[in-house]
Amino acid sequence: MNTLRVALDGPAGAGKSTVAKRVAAALGVAYVDTGAMYRAITWKALQREIPLHDEAALTDLANSIRIDFKPRPEGQAVFVDGVEVTDAIRTLEVTNNVSAVSAVAGVRIAMVNLQRDIASRTGVLMDGRDIGTVVLPNADVKIWLTASVEARANRRYQELLGKGVQCDLQQIQDDIQRRDEYDASREHSPMVKAEDAVVVDTTGMSVDEVIAKIQSICTSAQ
Ligand code: C5P
Repeated sequence: MNTLRVALDGPAGAGKSTVAKRVAAALGVAYVDTGAMYRAITWKALQREIPLHDEAALTDLANSIRIDFKPRPEGQAVFVDGVEVTDAIRTLEVTNNVSAVSAVAGVRIAMVNLQRDIASRTGVLMDGRDIGTVVLPNADVKIWLTASVEARANRRYQELLGKGVQCDLQQIQDDIQRRDEYDASREHSPMVKAEDAVVVDTTGMSVDEVIAKIQSICTSAQ
């Protein structure tokens, strides 16, 4: 297996997971969606009705939870303590609460340790907010994937419409902006571009163009 370690960071809705899956497969490295890990803890906390201001309980949860990824033809399935949560972690309820959970220091320490452990065993393409700055500061390739907030909101809107979900474009844009502000201003490992990351602005680019661009950045680093 390829031992390359790629850090792919950027704001909400930049299309990280869509391109990450395909680039990881093409490079022959594992794909780790770290956002899914924070979503998984949030889902479990909501299930257990843990108050989201209870940092000790959230930290205990993060230290005891088991998160598994299983490859599927259409993407990646996510399991929490043996229960499939692939769709459950994408609900509005989880999306609206995940930033509060992921801001808890104990939760971050537990997840960063897990993420580093995975990357110590295999080549990896990891997507998130703090991969190039905190999780893998020595990654071989660091990419900051971004797009205008309008383009990101519009993509989310089209994706939801495609799934038959009724939604409001302005509301989606406001939610994305609020989540970015929260993630960028939190005390522990805030979302920030690593100084040595290559910026890829995907506004106006197709998915295939973005994949080709990222793949060429990764290939030239090998
Ligand atoms: O990437 P996704 O939108 O699924 O991430 C959900 C949330 O998880 C982000 O808004 C952020 O609060 C948190 N996150 C994080 N650090 C990461 C990945 C995600 O704090 N490495």
